[in-house]
Amino acid sequence: MTLQFRQGQCAYDITIARGALLQAAELFDLKRKILVVTGEGVPQQYADAILAQCPEGWLLTIPEGEANKTPASVEFILNSLLEHGFTRGDAVVAVGGGVTGDTAGFAAACYMRGIDWYNVPTTLLSQADSSIGGKTGVNLQGVKNIVGAFHQPSGVIIDPDTLDTLSPRLFAEGLAEIIKMAATSDATLFETLENAEDLRPIMEQVLASALSIKLAVVEADPTEKGLRAVLNFGHTIGHAIEAAASKSKAAFYHGEAVAIGMLYMAEEPAKSRIEKLLKKYGLPTEDPFTTEQLLHFAAHDKKRKGGSIKTVRVSQPGSFRFEEATQDTLRSIIQARKI
Ligand SMILES: NC(=O)c1ccc[n+]([C@@H]2O[C@H](COP(=O)([O-])OP(=O)(O)OC[C@H]3O[C@@H](n4cnc5c(N)ncnc54)[C@H](O)[C@@H]3O)[C@@H](O)[C@H]2O)c1
Repeated sequence: MTLQFRQGQCAYDITIARGALLQAAELFDLKRKILVVTGEGVPQQYADAILAQCPEGWLLTIPEGEANKTPASVEFILNSLLEHGFTRGDAVVAVGGGVTGDTAGFAAACYMRGIDWYNVPTTLLSQADSSIGGKTGVNLQGVKNIVGAFHQPSGVIIDPDTLDTLSPRLFAEGLAEIIKMAATSDATLFETLENAEDLRPIMEQVLASALSIKLAVVEADPTEKGLRAVLNFGHTIGHAIEAAASKSKAAFYHGEAVAIGMLYMAEEPAKSRIEKLLKKYGLPTEDPFTTEQLLHFAAHDKKRKGGSIKTVRVSQPGSFRFEEATQDTLRSIIQARKI
């Protein structure tokens, strides 16, 4: 299954297929110097499968985890490109989760003011979320994604077979993003997720549906001026939960925090259906924080404009509306769920 991203002069294919890693030589232009960048914790067989198809390729493994999504990792990649004599016609292939993709993509954006890069996301989160949109970047002094560039990949391979090695918790985390997209924009996908007994056999279709939503949104709003905010459903409170958790003993993955965040912003009948879906796929539906704690962190939400925050509300799966929420509105929304 192939989707195409188009924006001005830029167009590239996103191939979603089991075993597609082995077709990289047909899908990407690998007949040049290639630096395959992977993450420490990513099973090496995936990067090796790409490297084996590069006539002139090198493998570079970067440290993993959000704490290593830094300019130092970018410099590590840039040094390797320089040492191997990469020129403007050469390319980088990122093989790994969102940390690897964001870091390697940003290094490609910086080297010689931008060389080609290909993305091979291997977590469900990165397949569903970071494979489209061209956002690359790293953290600085602990501030997430504060340094970066829009640099579209020249091609993307999504091979659902790579999900076989993912932990159930990371799989569920990625699914939270897919549930988010279905909840706002695709009632059929939402029902598919509700009815599926086993997602494995239908993973290509599920990913294609989720990515089609993201494609349509990003193409319509490349620079995040309006519609793209729909992708933030659940994120206002989700970010607050993540921030509160980082200061406490509770630990939530990003997707888990967004999962709970969606429940704050959903209304009936969508709310009960989303909650059921989250439980079905092993995602959390409650957080331990007080209204004031969440409000404190939500007030720092980067989507805050003037005195209010642009939020996404869902009352029927497959549809949404934007709503400006003041501090008081947000307090009532949070309190309604805490009672
Ligand atoms: N660019 C974008 O549009 C975009 C969108 C969403 C998220 N992100 C970024 O993505 C990052 C999160 O991505 P993530 O959740 O993929 O985290 P991650 O890259 O840290 O990967 C999570 C873990 O999974 C391991 N892993 C990766 N693939 C595996 C596989 N197939 N089998 C077993 N283990 C595997 C990794 O080694 C790591 O330990 C964040 O930094 C976030 O900011 C970017």
